[in-house]
Amino acid sequence: MKVGIIYGTKRKKATEALIKWFKSSLEKQEIAVEAKKYNEFTDFNQDAFIIGGAVYGTPLKWGGSVYPGLLKFLEQNQKSLENKPLATFIVCSKMKKREKYMGQILEKLPYKPITQKVFKGYLSEKDKDNFDNQKQIAEIWINEILDKL
Ligand SMILES: Cc1cc2nc3c(=O)[nH]c(=O)nc-3n(C[C@H](O)[C@H](O)[C@H](O)COP(=O)(O)O)c2cc1C
Repeated sequence: MKVGIIYGTKRKKATEALIKWFKSSLEKQEIAVEAKKYNEFTDFNQDAFIIGGAVYGTPLKWGGSVYPGLLKFLEQNQKSLENKPLATFIVCSKMKKREKYMGQILEKLPYKPITQKVFKGYLSEKDKDNFDNQKQIAEIWINEILDKL
C-alpha cells in the first residue's frame, strides 16, 4: 500500500508540520508515503491520496481561499485521481468559514472523499504551541483513514 500526500501552502509553517505528522504516522504503520507539494507531484501510482492545503485571504484577490495553485492542480488532474480513495484537509483560522473552504476542494474532486478534516493553523510563532497540540488529532485522523481503506 502506498499513499500519496498532495498539498499546497505558501509558507513553511502549519501545513508542512501536518504533512510531517501524517507521514510519520503512516510510516510507523509501514505504509509507503509520497508527500509532495502539488507542483512537484507528477506520478499518480499510489493506492490512496491525502489532499489539502492552507487558506489565505491575501493577496485580496484570493478572497479567502485554499491555496489557488492546489485547486487548479486538482481541476487539471481529476482523471488521475479517479477511482482512488481520497481524504481531504484544510488548514485555516476562520473556523466559521471552514465549510466554504473545504467546499473549494470538494468541487474540484471527481467524487466525495472518504473523510475530511479541518485543522486550525497559526499565524505567528507565538500561536504555535496551541497548534502543536493537534499532532495527536493528526495521528487519530490518519488511523481513521487507514481504517476506511
Ligand atoms: C497572509 C495570511 C492570510 C490568511 N488569511 C486567512 C483567511 O482569509 N481565512 C482563514 O481562515 N485563515 C487565514 N489565514 C490563516 C492561515 O490559514 C493559517 O495561518 C495557516 O496556518 C496557514 O497555513 P501555513 O501555516 O501552512 O502557511 C491567513 C494566514 C496568512 C499568513
